[in-house]
Amino acid sequence: MSDRKATLTLDGKSYDLPVLSPTVGPDVLDIRKLYGEADVFTYDPGFTSTAACESTITYIDGDVGELLYRGYPIEQLAEKSSYLESCYLLLYGELPTHDQLSDFTARVTRHTMVHEQMHQFYRGFRRDAHPMATMVGVVGAMSAFYHDSTDVNDPWQREVAAIRMIAKLPTIAAMAYKYSVGQPFVYPKNSLSYAGNFLSMCFAVPAEDYVVSPILEKAMDRIMLLHADHEQNASTSTVRLAGSSGANPFACIAAGIACLWGPAHGGANQACLEMLKEIGTVDRIPEYVAKAKDKNSGFRLMGFGHRVYKNFDPRAKVMKESADEVLGLLGIDNNPLLQVAKELERIALEDEYFISKKLYPNVDFYSGIILEAMGFPTSMFTPIFAISRTVGWISQWKEMIAEKNQKIGRPRQLYIGAPRRDYVDLRHR
Ligand code: ACO
Repeated sequence: MSDRKATLTLDGKSYDLPVLSPTVGPDVLDIRKLYGEADVFTYDPGFTSTAACESTITYIDGDVGELLYRGYPIEQLAEKSSYLESCYLLLYGELPTHDQLSDFTARVTRHTMVHEQMHQFYRGFRRDAHPMATMVGVVGAMSAFYHDSTDVNDPWQREVAAIRMIAKLPTIAAMAYKYSVGQPFVYPKNSLSYAGNFLSMCFAVPAEDYVVSPILEKAMDRIMLLHADHEQNASTSTVRLAGSSGANPFACIAAGIACLWGPAHGGANQACLEMLKEIGTVDRIPEYVAKAKDKNSGFRLMGFGHRVYKNFDPRAKVMKESADEVLGLLGIDNNPLLQVAKELERIALEDEYFISKKLYPNVDFYSGIILEAMGFPTSMFTPIFAISRTVGWISQWKEMIAEKNQKIGRPRQLYIGAPRRDYVDLRHR
C-alpha cells in the first residue's frame, strides 16, 4: 500500500483517507474508517463511484473498451481459448496445462446429470413459465438436493458446489426449455463438448438422431466465453451480497439469476431482439432513434449503453464478427434482423445524442441474432447468459468467501423519511 492520502475537510476538521492503488485502473480512496472517525456516510446510489471489494478476477477499462479475464484480453481468449479453458482460468487464476484441462473437463462432464427427482420439481411449474423463472426456482432448490455441498466454510464443499453448478446449469436451462415446449427432457451426453451437449439437450428429441453442427457448437462456445465474467456487475454483486451472509452457494447463484433477468442487465438480449423485430425494416430506424432520444417516451435502445464502457464494448465487436460468420456459414447472411441491427448501429453511432452520451452497442446487441439463427426462442437468451455467467458468479463468490476479513455486506442510507413521531390511535386518524 502506498502512503498517499486524500484529505477530507468537514466542519473545520480534517480526515485522512488512504489511497489504494490497484494493479491497473484508477486509485481508490479507502473510506472504511470514515464513519467511525467523522460520523458521516458517503452517498453513492447505483455504486457509480464505489469499489465494494478487492478482486483479482476480471478487469474492465471502460474508457478504452478493454476486458481482461485474469489479465488476458477477451479478444485473445475468444480467438484462441474455449469456454471450459476460460472457466478454469477464471476459477483458479491461471490457464490450465493440458492435464489440468483434461481433468477439469472430466470433472465438469461427470456432474452434468441432475438428481432424477428434480424432474418432478419441474412438473410443478406452469408450462408457459419463462425459463428464467423456472431456473431461479430450480437452482435455488439445488440446496435441497445436494446437501453435501452447502457448507460454505469447507473449501472442498465449495469446490464441489462450483463444479456442480458449472456442470448442471446447462442441463437445468435445457430442461426448462424442453418443459416449456412440451418435449421430453434430453439427458446429457458425455461424449459431447460443453456447448455441443447444451445444444443437444435443447434440440434433440428421442425420435430422431441429433448431430451437433460444428458451426453452432463453436458459436455457442464463444457466446458462453464472452459472457463468462464481467467484474462487479449487478448480478455478481447480488451473488456476493447474498453470499456475504454465509448463504449456501446454490441460493446465491439463484439470487444472481433473479437479478440477471432484469431488462437493464441480462434480460437486454431478449429485449434487444424483440426491439429489432419491432423495428422490422431499415426505413423505420429513424423513428426509433428519435424515440430513444425523447426522454418522455421511456424508450431506450436495448443493447446500447453500458455503465462502465464509455467506448466500444469489446465483447460486442467479437459478437458482431461471430454474427457475420455464423449467419454466413448458415447461408442466411441476408437476415433482415442483422441488416436492421447494422444500420441501427451505424445511424446511432453518427448521432450527436449517442456520441455525447458515449452510448455504444453492448454484448447483447448482436448475441440475440446469433441465438435466434441457431433456433433458440427469445425466452432462452437470458438463460444462456445465466449458464455462461455461472462460472463468473462462482469465481467471485469463492474469492469472497476465502477472503480473511470477509464481512457481511451492509450498505447504509441517506434517510429522508419522517423523523420520530408518536403513534396515533386508529380512532383519531
Ligand atoms: N438508449 C437511449 N438513451 C440511453 C440509453 C439507451 N440504451 N442508455 C443510456 N441512455 C441515456 C440515459 O437516458 C441518460 O441520459 P441523461 O444523462 O440525459 O439522463 C444517459 O444515457 C446515461 O444513462 P444512465 O441510465 O444514467 O446510465 P447507466 O450507466 O445507469 O445505465 C444501462 C447503463 C442500464 C446499461 C443503460 O445504458 C441501458 O438501460 N441500456 C439499455 C439496456 C441494455 O442494453 N442493458 C444491457 C447492459 S449490458 C449487460 O448487462 C450484459
